[in-house]
Amino acid sequence: MTAREPVVTVALDPDWASGALVDDVRRGLGSQPRTLPPKWLYDDVGSDLFDEITRLPEYYPTEAERAILRDHADDIVAACDATTVVELGSGTSDKTRTLLDAFTAAGTLERFVPVDVSEQTLRDAAVMLSERYPSLRVEALVGDFTLHLAHLPSGGRRLVAFLGSTIGNFYVEERAAFLGALHDSLEPGDWFLLGTDLVKSTDRLIAAYDDGRGVTAAFVTNCLRVLNRELGADFDVDAFSYVPFWDPRQERMDLRLRADMPQRVTIPGADLAIELTHGEEIRVEISTKFRPDRLRDELGSAGFSVERTWTDAAGDFALTLARRET
Ligand code: SAH
Ligand code: AVI
Repeated sequence: MTAREPVVTVALDPDWASGALVDDVRRGLGSQPRTLPPKWLYDDVGSDLFDEITRLPEYYPTEAERAILRDHADDIVAACDATTVVELGSGTSDKTRTLLDAFTAAGTLERFVPVDVSEQTLRDAAVMLSERYPSLRVEALVGDFTLHLAHLPSGGRRLVAFLGSTIGNFYVEERAAFLGALHDSLEPGDWFLLGTDLVKSTDRLIAAYDDGRGVTAAFVTNCLRVLNRELGADFDVDAFSYVPFWDPRQERMDLRLRADMPQRVTIPGADLAIELTHGEEIRVEISTKFRPDRLRDELGSAGFSVERTWTDAAGDFALTLARRET
């Protein structure tokens, strides 16, 4: 069968320097504590750095989730009657291929809808997937999963996959808002497949977010380069240190950039100037780690019932199959 061209729809404002980035920078950097939403980490360079992170020996989540998918893709296909798989924050859709292999072998899947803010990564993945799965309609959506769930195509029975523990990058209130919005965008009976990294020893967590080669530091620092390029900011990128730490109360990694010297930064595109004191920090990302019981409660509160949960042999990572209740 000949590959069909993937259909790519752009819901995201293509001009990063307008709208969302400016709003986020004004809101996050213009007040204290200073923060930036992690979605701005994923320009082309950031996406490539994340891809490199997934291959680091210290970064166990990718291989743990891949092992679960390898062992249980057939169980997932047997448990649900999806004709469309949507993947939020799909990136390269590398692990997802294990799931799509199982679905296409069963002959039940008609459509795959990868969704990501990183346009070029998504376009490349869409072409690769169309070639690999000629029987599937690949309908990619360049969009923000916190804003554009209403753009998801309807029709058929849907399974929404949200892998990699990307849900851990939300703050608790954002997570509840996201789950509520996802619930509202689905039909009763639609499926949700959620990957979550589990609480584990601090040593392993720190190692995973502070790798020996400094790839994670480069990934997190890349957000300053994005602001320099997109908004004409003058961050001295080398004058920041990467500071990752484990917050035991919130059970999350907290990834920050610390100013090594006082500095005045102008961000013309956001019409903003900020004074950073020596040692002042910008929180760029959190990565929450989960406990299965609490996850079940959160999903339940959002109107999803948990049907199955699988973990890897070491108990590092969980994959949860839930269903939107009626
Ligand atoms: N699912 C892949 C990639 C995880 S990295 C895996 O499991 O390995 C997180 C992905 O989410 C990146 O591809 C990033 O570009 C995307 N992303 C981050 N914030 C996003 C947002 N708000 N909306 C859509 N995609 C987002
Ligand atoms: C995408 N997300 C789940 C990754 C994580 O582990 O929280 C992003 C990341 N940040 C640093 N390393 C990986």
